[in-house]
Amino acid sequence: MNAYIWRAVVNGQETELSVRPSERLLPMLRDGLGLTGTKVSCELGRCGACIVHMDGKPVNACLVMAYQCSGRTITTIEGLATEELHEVQEAFLEEGGFQCGYCTPGMIMSVKALLDETPNPTTDQIKEGLSGNICRCTGYGGILRAVQKCGRSAWK
Ligand code: FES
Ligand code: FES
Repeated sequence: MNAYIWRAVVNGQETELSVRPSERLLPMLRDGLGLTGTKVSCELGRCGACIVHMDGKPVNACLVMAYQCSGRTITTIEGLATEELHEVQEAFLEEGGFQCGYCTPGMIMSVKALLDETPNPTTDQIKEGLSGNICRCTGYGGILRAVQKCGRSAWK
């Protein structure tokens, strides 16, 4: 099918891209817009490396088709920090939640979405909020501490 002009607000900017209707959001962000903070891993919706926000809700960018995100508001990890790191990013650094570059962006996007909905999550709510994010190599202790730290502080 022919390419068409896809329009959306990406990280606060009105954005246009020529895409095929069968294109998925993940390569559009990485290859089309150079936003490589969103990672490619399983491409099956299982690992969470590609999580971004669409209209404020977390989605797996590897599963979202171009037509499904046309006209929406998309936020990637690059859109979280403006002049300074976002509070979630700071907490990940301070509590050892920053692990590898593959899982961390998706983890942070999931945590931001969780805290937007539930500013002071319980441990079970944090585990549920991160249930779509997989780390295969280290652990979740530092991430849990980081989320708990954010939950205790003023949320923005
Ligand atoms: S790359 Fe999208 S969930 Fe794994
Ligand atoms: S996948 Fe990133 S630290 Fe395990």
